[in-house]
Amino acid sequence: MLYQLKRIAIVTSGGDAPGMNAAVRAVARVAYSKNMEVYGFERGWDGLITNTFRPLTPRSVGGIIQLGGTILHTSRSPQFKKKQGLKKAAKNLARNKINGLVVIGGNGSFQGAFELSKETETLIVGVPATIDNDVFGTDETIGFDTAVNTAVSEIDKIRDTAISHERIFIVEVMGRTRGFLASTIGLTIGAEIILVPEVKFEKEKIIKRLEENNAKGKKSGIIVAAEGVGDTRKLATEIEEDTGTEVRLSILGYAQRGGSPTARSRLLASLFANEAVELMTKEQGNRIVGLQKGKVTSMELEESCKTEKPLDLNLLKLADVLAT
Ligand code: F6P
Repeated sequence: MLYQLKRIAIVTSGGDAPGMNAAVRAVARVAYSKNMEVYGFERGWDGLITNTFRPLTPRSVGGIIQLGGTILHTSRSPQFKKKQGLKKAAKNLARNKINGLVVIGGNGSFQGAFELSKETETLIVGVPATIDNDVFGTDETIGFDTAVNTAVSEIDKIRDTAISHERIFIVEVMGRTRGFLASTIGLTIGAEIILVPEVKFEKEKIIKRLEENNAKGKKSGIIVAAEGVGDTRKLATEIEEDTGTEVRLSILGYAQRGGSPTARSRLLASLFANEAVELMTKEQGNRIVGLQKGKVTSMELEESCKTEKPLDLNLLKLADVLAT
């Protein structure tokens, strides 16, 4: 006999990602098709603590599939990291008779969801949405493809001016701790050098490579660096001093987190949302959904939280070979 879910809620939490709205829409509509009531907590975990939510109907989530950001708003809730905040959230879920909670977010949100799962009977399912693509249990997160494409189209423009002026550019992309964005962006814009937080860089090697390029007639170049690699401004100055070539720094920043989601991000959002609601109807909580080897799957929330997703270093090796 299937678990009789009546009321489910959605929360979007942590850094926003393009496609979060597509996921909100799909969760609401799939749940509605299974005769559930759906509510949206506002401003991430803060909404659970302050008990701020609104009903979501198939109509009220209309016209949002193409919108970046999240209509529910989001936050990085310091209150939720405290026991008191968690307990308040759990109490509000019980008080509102919410028997399923879909958490749309990244690692930090899933860590929060795992802590909350120890305080509540409500079934929790995570839907991975972060431009960082650093969630263990899915090959790709909602928003990653959009952020990659945003960065690629910007860097293609930077390439034009780099070639004209025969300059080196360091382009800093997002990724405070991980290099999934930098490695994919670097490979797909044809970066001369890619720097990621997982691999400590040696300035001397960078200089050597740039000098070799210069000797081959390659007078300009692009270094794609994840923000987590360190002080890129200092690195730019040092490379300029050591090579005698003009170096400019361009920080792409928060534009990578916004914008209309690509078809790929919308597709993942729809597939993940469907699976999340399916899991709940089968009474399977404390899981995250994901894409593994092209198939929609799920895994224990705890396993995802406790395991670091490995970066594919082959991408860096291939980028290196291709940057001749
Ligand atoms: O969304 C993930 C991420 O973009 C990281 O790569 C980045 O360092 C971080 O969020 C910054 O976000 P905030 O300023 O919102 O904490």
